[in-house]
Amino acid sequence: MADQVIIFDTTLRDGEQSPGISLDVGEKLEIAEQLARLGVDVIEAGFPVASQGDFEATQAIARAVRGPVICGLSRTAAADVDRCWEAIQDAEHPRIHVFLATSETHMKHKLRMTPEQVKVEAARAVAQAKAYTPDVEFSPEDASRSDFDFMCEVLQIAVDNGATTLNIPDTVGFAVPEEYAARLAKVREVVTGDYVISAHCHDDLGMAVANSLAAVAAGARQVECAVNGIGERAGNAALEEIVMAIGTRPDFFDGLTTGVRTEELAKTSRLVSRLTGYPVQYNKAVVGRNAFAHEAGIHQHGVLVERSTYEIMDPSAVGQGESQIVLGKHSGRHAFADTLAKMGITIQGDALNQAFVRFKELADRKVQITDADLEAIVAEELGGGATRVYELASLDLHGGTVGEPSATVVLTREGVKHEAAARGDGMIDAACQAIRSATGVDATLIDFAVNSVTGGVDALGDVVVQAEYRGRKVTGRGVSTDVVEASARAYLNAVNKLVRLDGVEAKTPESTP
Ligand code: KIV
Ligand code: ZN
Repeated sequence: MADQVIIFDTTLRDGEQSPGISLDVGEKLEIAEQLARLGVDVIEAGFPVASQGDFEATQAIARAVRGPVICGLSRTAAADVDRCWEAIQDAEHPRIHVFLATSETHMKHKLRMTPEQVKVEAARAVAQAKAYTPDVEFSPEDASRSDFDFMCEVLQIAVDNGATTLNIPDTVGFAVPEEYAARLAKVREVVTGDYVISAHCHDDLGMAVANSLAAVAAGARQVECAVNGIGERAGNAALEEIVMAIGTRPDFFDGLTTGVRTEELAKTSRLVSRLTGYPVQYNKAVVGRNAFAHEAGIHQHGVLVERSTYEIMDPSAVGQGESQIVLGKHSGRHAFADTLAKMGITIQGDALNQAFVRFKELADRKVQITDADLEAIVAEELGGGATRVYELASLDLHGGTVGEPSATVVLTREGVKHEAAARGDGMIDAACQAIRSATGVDATLIDFAVNSVTGGVDALGDVVVQAEYRGRKVTGRGVSTDVVEASARAYLNAVNKLVRLDGVEAKTPESTP
């Protein structure tokens, strides 16, 4: 048994049969060239008789791409086999892939052929292909729903007429792993001759990869698959998953390997996604953008200490760069500090603790925390943390087009609550008035500027104010997804500086803890 699994890529044939995908010749060529760089063994370039475009793309790939076998798909009709050969004859290593259904339902309703006619047709077409090239593959379409003995008869005929690869398609994704593996193993026992046995699985029940891998364990030495798992209906087995499963579990797969340069996987996935218009789901195995991203604090800590705690593959081995620590509401202090350190921000002690608290508050409101958000939070803490006297505990606002805007603010100073309510021209004005009366610092707002940190409806508002009190001018800064809250924070930050600078005593609290 050979120790390398042949990776037969059908992105450009079965993959292109996905609803809504239509690639032009240039796009197919670009993908084929990348597949060659990726190191697949066989590229199924197209189904030349299907359309003039398919013919031209297959021919262009056969003429330009060197390295992999270039395969064309063909029905058994003599004209189809001729057309297939015409398209691939200039390939360095050409292969004709002939298919003919062997299940009762396909023979009866689609082919309208008797089992005897199917045998004759298979023999004739394989022999015709063999006259063109020594490399001939045969597929009994809908193999997993075919009568086993009849299918083996047809497979034996194909081998006897020169087929060197026997592919067992689970055309409608009907098989389950144990059953599919057993079917393949039994074919190997019953059908004699020198051939490679191949798996071709569809994902209608979400088992295309599992079925393909079960087939490998049962002796398949070729797997037909497509980048990102694209293909008819629910798709084909995903190439990247097959390759990485074999590569990651040599203990289970008996030391088998593939010739794929795995570092090219992510790039290939992106190219296929871009040209087909099929997005890659975030949590897609191996190539999804979250495949190596960690959000929960416990996982982040584990990965920061030792990557293998929560990763079974090295992201750089599949071209995904480094593990990502994604800051979100589940993240912990380690990940927060580590991210800041990677951004070149050194922050320690109380400022770090306060920044972490602010980050957690923000993460509860904002789906994605960007570097710019972190910078804004830290800038606020570094600017205000040293002079924090009053802390904002809560802010309750009422506004709109009816009635006078009002605000109730609860501040704490050394653990003591200071609460006040006020009305104003607008909600920002009301919030500042409330802070004035809670602190007793009647600072005048003389300048106000608001900037949006990044875009989107949940962007952070970054507010910088200038305030004046007893002839002294100070600036204050505040950030929040709510611009009124950001303004209140900025104003409070300025008030805190004034209190520090002027040594203003705490106002008698209106309510106690
Ligand atoms: O799914 C299928 O049966 C096929 C064959 C043409 C191999 O794609
Ligand atoms: Zn298929």
